[in-house]
Amino acid sequence: MDKLLIRGGKRLSGEVTISGAKNAALPILCAGLLTADDLHLKNIPHLQDVITITKLMKQMGLRVQENGDETVLNGNDITKLEAPYEMVKTMRASILVLGPLLARFGEAKVSLPGGCAIGSRPVDQHIKGLQAMGAEIHIDAGYIYAKAKRLKGARIVTDMITVTGTENLLMAAVLAEGETVLENAAREPEVGDLANLLVKMGAKIEGIGSDRLVIQGVDKLHGATHEVIADRIETGTFLCAVAAAGGDVTLRRTRSGLLDAALDKLREAGAILTSGEDWIRIQMAARPKAVSFRTTEYPGFPTDMQAQFMALNCIADGTSHVTETIFENRFMHVQELNRLGAAIDIEGNTAIIKGVDKFVGAPVMATDLRASASLVIAGLAAQGETLVERIYHLDRGYDRMEAKLSAIGADIERVK
Ligand code: EPU
Repeated sequence: MDKLLIRGGKRLSGEVTISGAKNAALPILCAGLLTADDLHLKNIPHLQDVITITKLMKQMGLRVQENGDETVLNGNDITKLEAPYEMVKTMRASILVLGPLLARFGEAKVSLPGGCAIGSRPVDQHIKGLQAMGAEIHIDAGYIYAKAKRLKGARIVTDMITVTGTENLLMAAVLAEGETVLENAAREPEVGDLANLLVKMGAKIEGIGSDRLVIQGVDKLHGATHEVIADRIETGTFLCAVAAAGGDVTLRRTRSGLLDAALDKLREAGAILTSGEDWIRIQMAARPKAVSFRTTEYPGFPTDMQAQFMALNCIADGTSHVTETIFENRFMHVQELNRLGAAIDIEGNTAIIKGVDKFVGAPVMATDLRASASLVIAGLAAQGETLVERIYHLDRGYDRMEAKLSAIGADIERVK
């Protein structure tokens, strides 16, 4: 299994190009199931999760071609309306095929995703919404069996804000008969990116970017060309890396408007940030100041940045409180950060972090995607060598992270 060996203490400087957003690319690739025409997609990131979802949809009969920096999908020959357990268990986002399959073909069999490292993560809201649209759904031997001659528009109020739930119901509603209103919809930019693609495909959606999406169903969708938005979490991860290790780095092909809450916290921590239409520059010369925050849905502070920011707080001046409100078990990086010399205590869903002078390198183990990123950040700032094991988690969601970090001066290498 691959590991990352990091010799910490190097200042970072130069430029990094940010990749397309993982959490936009995944639903957008699933939208390829909604039409028999070609979808031309640009800025799809090179990640394990993208490979996994593509493999799943190829099994269904979707044609996928890579033409340089463009991925072309064609869903004219979809024959297998099934997402098997072997695939869904490796990636929960596979649930995103349920809405499109049911809407276009009237049928789907999708494995229930189990719990995962960061929490129990049920999909009851996806099911409840599809049932409200007239789908007959039963669960048997770990599979969701869904059927509907044609889905019918409905008013759906989800019990909580759910990102992939909103995306699944949106992809179902665009081909349903009549009007669907999704109340309490997720406002994450990745939901908006999917909605913008669907509109290019002929869908009728109002309220994009808000928590109330109104969809007039159409009979058919057609092909389109779309460029995936920048990955705001990759952006935030690189910003935290520079804030922790010190330096002066410009991130290209990204936008500050995608992560205002995290940028505010970085400024509070002492970073100097400047930005233009498609770039963000960070300069960090001093020790970071401790900053407290709570994770919330967009536009609040993202749960997907909590672990990386915690690494920064560990070596900051002062004590901070970090409260996780989205997932019940997303503190698994804490024990590993403590192995690197951090002083973190947990009380319920709040971590109390007393800033220490420095991390000291040690072998650590990645437990999930964003936890892995926090360990890499800690390793970059640490004195001595840090060996991060189980980096297959990192490869799921970051596009060549060690190459991008090396290019800005980090001493980091992948070892077998
Ligand atoms: N929830 C339910 N029932 C549902 C759906 C959600 O109880 O039917 C709960 C979840 O258990 C959780 C909360 O609602 O406590 C929010 O979950 P949400 O459905 O929004 O999460 P998700 O759609 O499964 C996406 C991202 C995650 C990100 C979360 C929150 C994708 C593919 N994944 O997950 O990304 O953390 O939204 O923003 O978009 C990551 O990239 O590292 C990652 C985990």
